[in-house]
Amino acid sequence: MKAVIVNEDHSLSWGEVDHPKIGDHEVLIRISATAINRADLMQRKGFYPPPPGASEIMGLECAGEIVEVGAGCTRFMSGDKVCALLAGGGYSQYASAHEGSVLPIPDGLSDEQAAALPEVFATAWLNLFIEAGLKAGDKTIIHAGGSGVGTTAIQLCKAFGASSFVTVGSKDKLRACIELGASGGFNRHDGSFLETAKTFAGESGVDVILDPVGAGYLSDNLSLLGLGGRLVLIGLMGGIKAELDLAQMMMKRARIIGSTLRTRPVTEKAVVMAQLEEKVWPKIVNQEIKPIIEAVFPITGIADAHDLVASDTTTGKVILTVDH
Ligand SMILES: NC(=O)c1ccc[n+]([C@@H]2O[C@H](COP(=O)([O-])OP(=O)(O)OC[C@H]3O[C@@H](n4cnc5c(N)ncnc54)[C@H](OP(=O)(O)O)[C@@H]3O)[C@@H](O)[C@H]2O)c1
Repeated sequence: MKAVIVNEDHSLSWGEVDHPKIGDHEVLIRISATAINRADLMQRKGFYPPPPGASEIMGLECAGEIVEVGAGCTRFMSGDKVCALLAGGGYSQYASAHEGSVLPIPDGLSDEQAAALPEVFATAWLNLFIEAGLKAGDKTIIHAGGSGVGTTAIQLCKAFGASSFVTVGSKDKLRACIELGASGGFNRHDGSFLETAKTFAGESGVDVILDPVGAGYLSDNLSLLGLGGRLVLIGLMGGIKAELDLAQMMMKRARIIGSTLRTRPVTEKAVVMAQLEEKVWPKIVNQEIKPIIEAVFPITGIADAHDLVASDTTTGKVILTVDH
């Protein structure tokens, strides 16, 4: 089969690789569409190796058709149209996935739209609702609001009764985030977001912050959290090391939660996927929540697609279609 190969100089080519094998609790998916995540850009440069046992091929999600099922699988059959969360291997014609990481494509969605769902919906759901315990009436701050994860988090907050304030990198992204349901936001290129975010936070502060930026935002994040507030750290785009005001953290009874999805055991991922299917898939079917797609490329145009994501100008996902 064919897959995207990372060459020694980090350039990309579409070439022959070994066909994946499936385990007892895995299915084999004939991929029709996959999608880019920020982590792929790091993996390509050699900074984010796949977890042990995962495919070396980039790609954390896919949509397509099941063509083989392992002996221990109980839910899916060959011919089922699905989308799946992968620990790797999505940039190819076929991928294996644990059955618990696979969901049916929500009614009414194309394969391209379905490929936009698994990674960012699992990330946003896991971190907002399972890790941070978000509930109706809560106030949230979503950093990188225009990202794949951000555009999903905004919609989930709105659909489940929480309000959100975003930081973004352009006026257009801010407008898009407000259309998706954010109450307000700030362009990070206009200086510090702190004062504008304080107006949103009010006296009581915010309940939850979803932060892929890290060090550069830590101090401001902590000062925006209210009593019992939760800061979920999901990325380090703005640095790794920072000073922490422990007194502020203690007096607010705040929690800082570090979280990664990819390296979690399949049993934990299955819990996230089951909750998505039960609580979110119906809202996608009734179009209350939608996949946000910036652009669609054939997978042979992967280098241009990566350049587009790296430009920081995208809102939502960049999709790759896969020919056979
Ligand atoms: N922990 C996990 O399990 C997990 C899972 C999935 C994703 N993530 C993380 O979540 C983040 C979003 O992922 P994605 O795939 O949705 O990303 P994406 O769609 O590629 O969007 C990333 C956006 O982040 C903003 N950004 C870039 N550098 C920044 C910086 N130094 N400071 C502030 N903002 C910056 C840019 O938007 P603006 O210019 O508009 O700000 C960029 O478009 C990434 O950091 C990713 O690693 C974590």
